[in-house]
Amino acid sequence: ENIGTVVYENSTTASKAVAQEIADLIRVKQAQKQPCILGLATGSSPKSLYAELVRLHKEEGLSFKNVVSFNLDEYYPMEPDSVNSYVRFMKEHLFNHVDILPENYHVPDGTLSKAEIANYCDQYENKIEALGGLDLQILGIGGNGHIGFNESGSLQNSKTRLVALDHITRVAASGDFSGLENTPRTAITLGVKKIMEAKRVILLAWGERKSNIIKASTESEVTSSVPASFLQEHDNATFVLDKEAASKL
Ligand code: GLP
Repeated sequence: ENIGTVVYENSTTASKAVAQEIADLIRVKQAQKQPCILGLATGSSPKSLYAELVRLHKEEGLSFKNVVSFNLDEYYPMEPDSVNSYVRFMKEHLFNHVDILPENYHVPDGTLSKAEIANYCDQYENKIEALGGLDLQILGIGGNGHIGFNESGSLQNSKTRLVALDHITRVAASGDFSGLENTPRTAITLGVKKIMEAKRVILLAWGERKSNIIKASTESEVTSSVPASFLQEHDNATFVLDKEAASKL
């Protein structure tokens, strides 16, 4: 078990520490005249991280000009300008407030026809590979242990693909979509394999409601029924937690 857990007083202090690590990485890559390849996540957990990165940009001159980012997932179908799209989320919380170049950020396309998806997903992975892989992957965790939208049953070598969302994932999202009947049934997600290939992985979890799944992910056996448990086999993965999320460890 290689997984590290780091516990902070609260999500704000935790997010500041993670933002500092990302800022340091971006600056190292800048000094090397290299792009910094980031895997980014949505959901409520990374909001405070993005807020801190925006602050570092505005107040401390952190530039994102060398950042190339790949988001983990997007609902399918989904229009990019829809209120619940992850494109919109990322613009609202990060991209619109920093100097990342629009051609350098990528969010899976929720507007494709079904026939186009498989090829699109292969190309999404090829783009990451052509850049040398993800330098750092940020993750949240679903209440069922999903990472990205790799739900229970996702294999460790799973590729980027269209997936069916679990009922409990849809219930969790249904508030945003004003009811379960309007909540998407499918999504496009980066596969577990590309997440595991990231050179560094940081999973963020806050609050008591995540405490059981954090315990299962870090202390139980590695199992596809809890995809976050695969991170036990990553040699540079850290779970960054607040006290409440860590309370069952
Ligand atoms: C969604 C996202 C996941 C995220 C999860 C947890 O399902 N697709 O990537 O980790 O929500 O969300 P939250 O951070 O709001 O608990």
